[in-house]
This record gives sequence, C-alpha cells and structure tokens, in this order.
Amino acid sequence: MNVLLTGGAGFIGSHTAVELIEKGHSVVIVDNLVNSKPESVRRVEAITGTKIKLYVDDVADKAALEKIFEENKIDAVIHFAGLKAVGESVKLPVLYYRNNLDTTLTLLETMKKYGCTKLIFSSSATVYGDPEKVPITEDMHVGDCSNPYGKTKYMIEEILKDTCHADSELSVVLLRYFNPIGAHKSGLLVEDPNGIPNNLMPYILKVAMGKMPHLNVFGDDYPTPDGTGVRDYIHVSDLAKGHVAAIEYADANKGIEVFNLGTGNGYSVLDVVKAFEKASGNPLPYKIAPRREGDIAACYASPDKAYNGLKWKAELTIDDMCRDAWEAVKKNPEGYPND
Ligand code: NAD
Ligand code: WQD
Repeated sequence: MNVLLTGGAGFIGSHTAVELIEKGHSVVIVDNLVNSKPESVRRVEAITGTKIKLYVDDVADKAALEKIFEENKIDAVIHFAGLKAVGESVKLPVLYYRNNLDTTLTLLETMKKYGCTKLIFSSSATVYGDPEKVPITEDMHVGDCSNPYGKTKYMIEEILKDTCHADSELSVVLLRYFNPIGAHKSGLLVEDPNGIPNNLMPYILKVAMGKMPHLNVFGDDYPTPDGTGVRDYIHVSDLAKGHVAAIEYADANKGIEVFNLGTGNGYSVLDVVKAFEKASGNPLPYKIAPRREGDIAACYASPDKAYNGLKWKAELTIDDMCRDAWEAVKKNPEGYPND
C-alpha cells in the first residue's frame, strides 16, 4: 500500500517508515518539522535504500494536504502529527487543542474528498488516566485525563468514533501506545527532543552523556514493589511493527477498533536505571526527588487484544531497549544535525 505518514519525520513515524518499507509498502511523509528535522527522513532512506517523498507542510493546511492527495494515490494514512509534551500542554492548552484537533479534522475532510478510507491514529495510554487496575484492557474507562494533551487524544478518539459511525466505508484503528523508548538497531535514528527532556529515557541518556549531573527519580513512595513509578516500556521498533499490523488489519476490516500497544510488562524507574547501567557498563547517578504532579503509580498494558486481533506482539526486552537507545545516542551525541 502507499501510506501517508503525517508527522512521519518524528520519533515513532520515522521508525514506522522503516518497518513499512521493509514489508514492501511505500510511504509519503508530511511533517511541518515543528519537532523534528528532515535528516530523520534521510536516515530512513539510508536504512531502507529507498527514496521518500517528504512534504514540509502543516497538516492543518487544507490546500497543502489536498496537493499531496492530488499528487499521490494514498491508500491509507497513519496520523502521527501532533504536539505531545504534557507539561507544555498545561501552559499552552489552546495551541495543543488547535494543533491536534485541526490536523485531524483537516485530514478527515481531505481523506473523504479523495476517497481514502483507511486511517491509523496515534493515541496514548494517557486516555486511561489513573487506571482502576493493571494490566489495562481496552474496555476500561477512558477520558479522565489530567492534562490538555491527553484530552486531545481522547477527543480525537471520540471524533473518529462518530466519523466511523456516520460512514460505513471507513476503517479506523486507534492505537494506544504505552511508553516507547529505544531506537532502530542501526543506531541511525534517534529520539531528539528539544531542550531539557521530560521523559525518563531521554533524561537518562543526557545523564549518561554527562550533559546532566544526575537523574531525579520522581517519588519512591508509590504502592509499587520498590516505591518508584511502574510503566510499560516498549521498543520503538516493536511499536512500529504494530503499525504495519494495523495497516493490514484496516485493509481487511471496516469500522473502528482500538488496540493497546505495549509489552504487558511493568518496570519501575529503578528497574530501568539498572537495565541502563548494564547496557552502558557505567553507574548512572540518580537522586530521589518529590513526586511529579499528575504522575500515576503504575500503568501497563494487557497486550492480549493486539495479539489476537493484529497478530502482533512486542518481542524486544528492556535490555534491548536500553542497549539500542545508548548505541544510537553514542553515534549521534548532538541528535540530528541541522540542515
Ligand atoms: P514526535 O514529536 O517525534 O513526532 C510528531 C511529529 O509531528 C513531529 O515530527 C512534528 O514535527 C510533527 N507535527 C506536529 N504538528 C504538526 C502539524 N500541525 N503538521 C505537520 N506535522 C506536525 O513525537 P512521537 O513520539 O513520534 O509521537 C508521534 C505521535 O504518537 C504523536 O501524536 C504523539 O502524541 C503520539 N504518542 C507518543 C508517545 C510517546 O511517548 N512518544 C506516546 C503515546 C502517543
Ligand atoms: C516514566 C516514569 C516518571 C522522568 C508520558 C506521557 C504519556 C505518554 C508517554 C504521550 C514515571 C519517571 C520520568 C524523570 C523520573 N506520551 N521519571 N524522572 O509520564 O509515563 O508518560 O510519556 O502520549 O502521555 O505522560 O513517561 O517517561 O515521563 O515517565 O523519575 O526525569 O519515569 O515519574 O514514573 P509517562 P515518562
């Protein structure tokens, strides 16, 4: 299939482009580069030996999006484009609602106009809020999100449900990602966040590179085995393969379906620190700090529905994730070069 990746220059989109191409699909990317660089697309070209069409446009720009659909026969879309920093979304809610909702609405209008009926959406485990139990199954309550970012994901899921309800030709797959980390095994693709990272693995990498003095472990008094927060970390290449499975699922099934993309394993912050120390061969300095506002104790997926429905499961371990993240950062200590 010819698949349009909105936000395809980003961390998950670039890894997904590799996996799609390796499975024989072709990809077109549209990205306004607000949180990425074109170098990521060139790296995907280097890994796959395939030239990729990159459109540097805003997905909310209808004329630009229509031009892409005019120039390319798009069979399916994976909608990654969005702003994703939780803390920033609390400070700039209108920016987040405008960007994440407008891109989705413009995309839906354009897909309708050009008869494109298959859509995969990047949702998030954040839609579950503070779950009443773990592992989290897809039928559990959603919508009580503590920040505007999470609310945009919930709202977009609702928009897509209504759209599918009104149009029986559509095939939509909502993928709720847990905590993607790691990097492609080539070491050519990196997670390259702007400024001081908020997420655990990018922060650990800064400490390991000597750019930050220590990791702050946010809270050691949660009701978890070692008191630190537990999450379902998933290798980004496994996550990317989940999108290939979702594209094939959307090709075979109409209507809307939701799947968790996680491993089903919960690791604490200190488990990740230990796994990282093993991968790098060096101790990682850390200090226990107060809890971070909005954090929950434990969050991990039931991966069963994805296994049964998509015939997909994550294969790589926490050791693989730490090793690949570390190797990629050593090869790209300053992230991607600017153009
Ligand atoms: P990313 O920031 O690396 O990628 C998103 C891409 O979208 C960036 O390249 C950015 O430039 C682009 N973009 C943003 N707004 C755009 C617009 N208006 N027009 C065109 N391009 C635009 O983030 P990622 O980690 O690759 O995440 C991809 C998607 O998955 C996002 O929707 C994110 O919310 C979602 N998600 C990410 C995580 C995570 O932990 N990384 C977890 C759950 C869900
Ligand atoms: C993981 C654990 C922290 C940084 C976020 C978003 C979520 C999704 C994935 C997009 C927690 C602890 C972290 C640090 C720490 N993104 N931690 N010190 O919060 O599970 O999820 O990213 O959809 O919506 O909320 O991920 O990597 O920030 O934190 O101790 O410097 O690491 O408290 O227990 P989180 P994270």
